[in-house]
Amino acid sequence: MKRLLLFILPILIIVAVVFTISGIMQARFTEDRLMEDLQRKARTVDESLEVSARYILINNDLRSANRLVEGFQKRERLQGCAIYDKEGNIFAITQKFSGWKDKDKPYLKDILAKKAPRGSLENFNEYSVYSYIIPVTDDENNVLGMVEVIYDTSYVFTTLAILWKKLSVSLIILLVLIILTMLLIQRQIFTLPILRLTEWFQHFQRGETEQVYSVKGKDELGKLASEVEQVALSLRVARKVVSEKATERMQKDELWTEARLRDLINARLGESALIVVSNREPYMHVIDDITGQPKCIRPASGVVTAIDPIMRSSGGTWIAHGSGNADRKFVNSKDKLGVPPGDNRYILKRVWLSKEEEEGYYYGFANEGLWPLCHMTHTRPVFRESDWQIYKKVNQKFADSVLAELPVKNPLVFIQDYHFTLLAKMIKDKRPDTRIALFWHIPWPNPEVFSTCPYQDQILEGMLSCDLIGFHVQGHCNNFLETANKLLESRVDTEKFSVVRFGKETFVRPFPISVNGYFDQSGQNPDLAKEMDKIKKEYELEGKIVAIGVDRIDYTKGLLERMLAVDRFIGKNPQYKNKFVFIQLAAPSRTHIKHYHDLMNDIDELVEKKNWKYSEGDWRPIIYLKRHFSPEEIRPYYALADICIVSSLHDGMNLVAKEYVASKADFNGVLILSRFTGAARELTDSVPVNPYSIEEFADAIKLSVEMPPEERKKRMENMRRIVSENNVYRWAGDIITELTALKRVKAIKT
Ligand code: G6P
Repeated sequence: MKRLLLFILPILIIVAVVFTISGIMQARFTEDRLMEDLQRKARTVDESLEVSARYILINNDLRSANRLVEGFQKRERLQGCAIYDKEGNIFAITQKFSGWKDKDKPYLKDILAKKAPRGSLENFNEYSVYSYIIPVTDDENNVLGMVEVIYDTSYVFTTLAILWKKLSVSLIILLVLIILTMLLIQRQIFTLPILRLTEWFQHFQRGETEQVYSVKGKDELGKLASEVEQVALSLRVARKVVSEKATERMQKDELWTEARLRDLINARLGESALIVVSNREPYMHVIDDITGQPKCIRPASGVVTAIDPIMRSSGGTWIAHGSGNADRKFVNSKDKLGVPPGDNRYILKRVWLSKEEEEGYYYGFANEGLWPLCHMTHTRPVFRESDWQIYKKVNQKFADSVLAELPVKNPLVFIQDYHFTLLAKMIKDKRPDTRIALFWHIPWPNPEVFSTCPYQDQILEGMLSCDLIGFHVQGHCNNFLETANKLLESRVDTEKFSVVRFGKETFVRPFPISVNGYFDQSGQNPDLAKEMDKIKKEYELEGKIVAIGVDRIDYTKGLLERMLAVDRFIGKNPQYKNKFVFIQLAAPSRTHIKHYHDLMNDIDELVEKKNWKYSEGDWRPIIYLKRHFSPEEIRPYYALADICIVSSLHDGMNLVAKEYVASKADFNGVLILSRFTGAARELTDSVPVNPYSIEEFADAIKLSVEMPPEERKKRMENMRRIVSENNVYRWAGDIITELTALKRVKAIKT
């Protein structure tokens, strides 16, 4: 539209200006002509009256004078006549102009003296009139008086007004005709071919290369399309080769790496790109509070930590809520951008939500309803009907966004978490051929707990539209199967670990999520060493035993219990005063929810209280750093920490535990890990802890502080082996292998 205006507006302006100038000239010309006519007429009439006036003035004949002036009264337009004596006094005047007597006429003396006629435009009441006066003389050229004719000029202006009206109507008609013609030309020359080309691109993007959508032709567009087709053909050939080579390589490789996952995706997905959906976006643009400039941050989220390395290796599109306050500045017209910024390894498509949608769907239903429902932390879930309605609406919004991206062949969608329980059904309703996996990043409760959710049927039904549902651990899978069995009309196959409902089978599997081992180089990184020194200096950590906690401020993370355990540890072991420091990196999270807001205050208070209790000189047992930390900022803290404390009251997996292990290239670290995390199943060489038992927790800290170096090393070695073998590439590889294999089995059956 803007471009169209740019195209039409100058033409319209030029036409309007030219037309107006010519209109002004035409009006001037008409006005001059009419005024000349009027003056000529006044002069002629005045001169024709001169003889009669002379007679009247010589004989002082008032009756004849009145007859003469009243002769004008009968005429249609406003016009009159006046006879003056030689003193300039009115002798007789047309009745209609009786008021003319009172008008000041300084010019009369001049006419009498110079004996020369005079014509001028004058105002009379509300009228503009033309007055023409000629002196009347006798045979010896002595002035007897004057005779004046007065004509109303308003018809000149009426004529001009009519002329302007006609001109304006013609101008409007002309402009409308020009606009219509331009639109028609524009449509024929630009819009239609571009629409055809866009449609062709859309079909092409989705893999529909059939003749029906062809734009072949000899014109410019045809040539362009043919060029694009050549590029696409080369791409397809290249992809095929990559895919075959990938299959070959996969058969050789042992350990899961970024390259191996890329090979698997190439081999299994062929031309189709992976589409991931999550609520939290991996890269968020926000305005920096201090500089006022936009900056890009990586949100604190297990989903982001795990999926970003996968997307970096596989490419594809990640669809997520654009929640940063500067997000809109960085997307293209399709709300997409290449990420990581500057590296462009995959596409991030941002979905915009209104405040009302964010409140009902994210804060309300997802985080005040489903989050506490699935975590056993004795926090009561809140289910509001209004939140549920908005949750459904937002799921549909995301479904529409996904549907717009699906390729024609082999669409594969990987949904993340509890924000999108209805998404799979909404996608399958429109595209039943889509293969969908959902990964549930949090625990799944037992059927009794889940049955308190008023929307249990719709949620289960939505989830069972997936082909594959993944949980972190077998226990959560079992809970889910039991829930489906008890609460929904369905058949659970305990051999195959699947749920069958109305002929549709959904497989349920454990896939323990992990990290990418990216932190492995910590030992050799000089920048990291510098950062560690800086932190040590800033917080006077030299010679001290340092424990670390890295969490979002969430009531599931057991942060208060952790502070109490540190307090108890120092209380029971005063010899560690001045020698032990616990650093908590805490990212504020979901602060709009009262429970989270209150928790922040509770932690602030507790930290203050405990630090005050023990403070001696500069030493404080707890260093509480409450802000968002980037992965790069967290790395030196992991590297310098002798102990990492993960004390979740309930957690699907907990990737902080695995990140810490992956960071400890020198094997010098102890992990204290809550028994209620998914990670505790795998990291059996950690120091297990029940965060509800402060006594046991404090003793676990003591055990970790005093653990002999050989044992620390041995335990860390074991844990690092597990994390490097079961890394995030393996996690993604297993899910994709399982999902694509399921499809094949089904295809053979039918
Ligand atoms: C958990 C959820 C994620 C979520 C993360 C951070 O790990 O499983 O889906 O992204 O918490 O929470 P937030 O609400 O900030 O995204």
